[in-house]
Amino acid sequence: MPESAHIEAATPADGPRIVALLAQAGLPTADLTPAALARFCVARDGDAIVGAVTVEHYGDNGLLRSLVVAPTQRGRSLGRALVEAVEQRARAQGLRSLVLLTQTAAEFFAALGYRVVARSAVPEALRNSSQFAGVCPSSAACMQKQLATPSDS
Ligand SMILES: CC(C)(COP(=O)(O)OP(=O)(O)OC[C@H]1O[C@@H](n2cnc3c(N)ncnc32)[C@H](O)[C@@H]1OP(=O)(O)O)[C@@H](O)C(=O)NCCC(=O)NCCS
Repeated sequence: MPESAHIEAATPADGPRIVALLAQAGLPTADLTPAALARFCVARDGDAIVGAVTVEHYGDNGLLRSLVVAPTQRGRSLGRALVEAVEQRARAQGLRSLVLLTQTAAEFFAALGYRVVARSAVPEALRNSSQFAGVCPSSAACMQKQLATPSDS
């Protein structure tokens, strides 16, 4: 990850730039409300937002979605750092697993411990989310990672 970049919670003012990054990468944005955008994590480099990701909560499970790194910044471990940041936050918040849908980055997530699972194996609340219910194509791979929480140790 570039030394000048850091990962932090988004501010309300970041919303339009997060949407622009996602749209540039061809990821869904139509269902992202201002409140949802305010819950993102962003990678900030000076004044620029060079990456983003968020986790939606469905009971004990989270839906990791909208992971994006600016095209000029890819391959510098920012994507991995963003995933690790939201995993750490998810553990601290007591989530038991993270689920995601991806069309283009299954190998990237597999290297981070995510395993392909059947959509039918995912808790119903997640299957009713907008990502599952239509925003993400049905051809997208469904992946899950169990999170060890502090209470497991
Ligand atoms: C997927 C994405 C976030 C990765 O970000 P990144 O900053 O380039 O990733 P990193 O530099 O942290 O890569 C970590 C490792 O994954 C590999 N990798 C990166 N993107 C990959 C991909 N799409 N498929 C397979 N492997 C990938 C890297 O080569 C690197 O491997 P290494 O550890 O052996 O060097 C970025 O390519 C992106 O924004 N893509 C478009 C949006 C997208 O597909 N998002 C996922 C939707 S859920």
